[in-house]
Formats: sequence, structure tokens, C-alpha cells
Amino acid sequence: MRILVGISGGIAAYKAITLVRRLRDAGCEVQVVLTESAAQFVTPLSLQAVSGAPVRSSLFDAAAEAGMDHIALARWADQVIIAPASADVLARMANGMANDLLTTLVLATSAPVSVAPAMNRQMWAHPAVQVNIATLKARGVRVIGPASGAQACGELGAGRMEEPEAIASALLAPTSSVNWQGKRVVITAGGTREPIDPVRFIANRSSGKMGFALAASAQAAGAAVTLICGPNALPTPSGVTRIEVETALEMQAAVMGVAQMDVFIGAAAVADYRVAEPATHKIKKIIDADTLTLTLVKNPDIIRTVALRQPKPFVVGFAAETEQLNHYAHQKRVAKGMDMICANWVGDGLAFDQPDNALTVLWAGGEHRLMRAEKFTLAVQLVELINQVMKQS
Ligand code: PMT
Repeated sequence: MRILVGISGGIAAYKAITLVRRLRDAGCEVQVVLTESAAQFVTPLSLQAVSGAPVRSSLFDAAAEAGMDHIALARWADQVIIAPASADVLARMANGMANDLLTTLVLATSAPVSVAPAMNRQMWAHPAVQVNIATLKARGVRVIGPASGAQACGELGAGRMEEPEAIASALLAPTSSVNWQGKRVVITAGGTREPIDPVRFIANRSSGKMGFALAASAQAAGAAVTLICGPNALPTPSGVTRIEVETALEMQAAVMGVAQMDVFIGAAAVADYRVAEPATHKIKKIIDADTLTLTLVKNPDIIRTVALRQPKPFVVGFAAETEQLNHYAHQKRVAKGMDMICANWVGDGLAFDQPDNALTVLWAGGEHRLMRAEKFTLAVQLVELINQVMKQS
């Protein structure tokens, strides 16, 4: 997803750095536009570093207009968020003004626009601000927050900018045409870590993005979602119960600890083997030996155990392959008792730790290809497909 983050002047502008980070962690492309007064609170250089893209603030920047002009920037965005949104920028937006780059972009974009207001509590309560907010809401602008609490000015009340994690969750929450109200969905995500000694482990490149996107998508469909994940820094999708684990054995125990589930989705890259006996102290380098042998033992197959549960949930697994994608995926589906398997090519910069993916989904008597797309988009499509196939079976 491509998100244009607009920052207006206010003490909360420093929190926009964390917001950009969280959006990037979730796989979004981010471009930042600062108002002139925002640049008094946060530097373009910091925002360029966290967004990985040049930061723009002027409508009259000849170099930028020669490259990505402001109309192209308005078209580029899938979503626009203004955080913090000051009383001034809200007033200018409500009045349709276009007197700087940010307000011009708001008029020029067809993408959904959200604002995260931040101001002193008296200012927030002022009728002029409330009328502007009502006008913007009536035009379809989403208002996230503000939160209540201690303010930078020393007062207490409503007006603090919502926390960056909450803003990111609100922006990334997918919309869904599926109704999974009352369904309990368990999803595994990310890679496991198998200890070698107290400071070293065997791991893989899974970031958790695919599983987190699925959790957000199932939650948006109304399900009660438990997300069991290996170590990662991704924000928890809003409304989802997160259980953090490290090893495959811990992941299995967490999955087994969930009393009831209607759907299980195994998106985690679980280590097939673990070190038989991890050393209790850091392994020393042996000066006169060129090799070190570790004995590995097989981990339990979590998804296979889930498929044996009674009553049996609808079990969806993944197959990460570097050759004969459909052939191996089909074999895995049958061998592990899955109802459905999502096969993805991996290696060569594909799937693992990428913002996008492509899937071939196989089930008994059916196959469907989900074309390469950003993982949140793909997750919405996959939940729709699971829902269809579940109804038929
Ligand atoms: O996390 P990302 O960076 O977003 O990347 C996403 C992904 C590439 C990790 C994901 O799309 C994916 O393919 N996940 C499964 C990776 C994998 O381990 O595949 P596998 O072919 O080794 O395992 C097949 C299935 O068995 C998987 O559903 C896996 O969760 C499950 N399994 C494997 C081993 C084990 N001991 N227990 C299991 O439950």
C-alpha cells in the first residue's frame, strides 16, 4: 500500500517519525509532505531517513515538480493521512483551500483521506474546530482520535494525537465483504528461532508480514483472531489477540492451548528441525578444528496436529517452494491433512520478507491463482477464497 503522510505544525509532529516507521514495517511505501510550520518541529532529513524517500514541502520546488509533480504524487497515494492535523490545516481543508503543497494534494487526490488531530484541549473543543471536523467527516474524511490525556502544554483532556501504532492499525485495517462474525480463527506467522546456545539460534527470513496481513483481514471480516507469531517488530492488527513465541515447540504449545477454532491458517515458517541439545553456555571456538557439528532432531508438525483435531477446523497451510511449486504443494496438502494450501515461490527475493507475494491456492478439486499484489490486498482475497471454499465443503 502507498501511503502519503502529511505532517502539519505541532509538538506531536515528532510522533510522525514513529508512524512512518510502523507503516514501513508493515510493508507500505511511504512519501512524506511537510507544511512549512511542521518543519519547525521535525526535520525533513529524519523523515527522509525513515521513509526512504525524498520529503517534499513546497509547491514551487522546481526539481521535484520535474520528477514527481504534485498531481502525480496525489495519484500515487492509495491513502492520505495527515498526522498531526493542526487546527489550522483542518480549517484550510474544510474550506477547500490549496495554499500549500499538502492542502493542494488533499484536493487533487482521489484516495481516502484520514486526519489525526492534535491540539490543546480548549482548541479542540472550540466550535470553529468542531464545525470544521463535522464538515470534513461529512465529505468522507476519516478522523482518527484525538486521544485524551496529559498534553504538552501541561493541560489534561482530549486533543492529544492518537498513538502512531493505533493510527497505523486504523489505516491498514482492510475492509472485507466476508462475514466471519462468531468464527474463531487462529493464524501462525513469522519464523521460529531454534537455540544453538544462549546467544545463537537457527532462524529463517520470514518477517511475519503475510500472517499479520491475514490476521488483519480475518479480523476485518468479523472473526475473533488469535495470532501466534515468532519474533518480529510488526504492530499487532487492531482487535487481534497476539501470542509471542520463539521456538517451534513453543508455537505448537500455543496452538494446542487454543481451546476452539473454526479456521486455522499456518503462514509461519516453522523450523523443521531443532538442535538436539542446545549448549547451556556459549559455544567456544575450537582453535584447531575447522568444523563444528550440530545434531538436529525433527520438530513436531504443527499443522498436521491441528488437522487431527476433533472437531476439525478448516485448515489452510502454506508451501514455500523453490522448484515444482504445484507438485510439492499438492503433496504437502495431502500428507498434512490440510483443506487448502497456498503455494508461493520463495528465494531470489520472493515472498520472504517482501511487501508483496503471489499465491497458487489448491484444494481438493480446485485451484485458483492470486496474482502478485501487496500482502494486505492478497490477504483480503485469500480470506474471500477460504470463505467460498469452506461454504462448498
Ligand atoms: O513472513 P513473510 O516474510 O511475510 O513471508 C511469508 C512466507 C513466505 C513465510 C509464507 O507465505 C509461507 O510460505 N509460509 C510457510 C513457510 C513454510 O515453512 O512452508 P513449508 O513448506 O516448510 O511448510 C508447509 C506448511 O507446514 C506451512 O503451513 C507451515 O506453517 C507448516 N509447518 C511446517 C513445519 C512444521 N514443523 N510445522 C508446521 O506447521
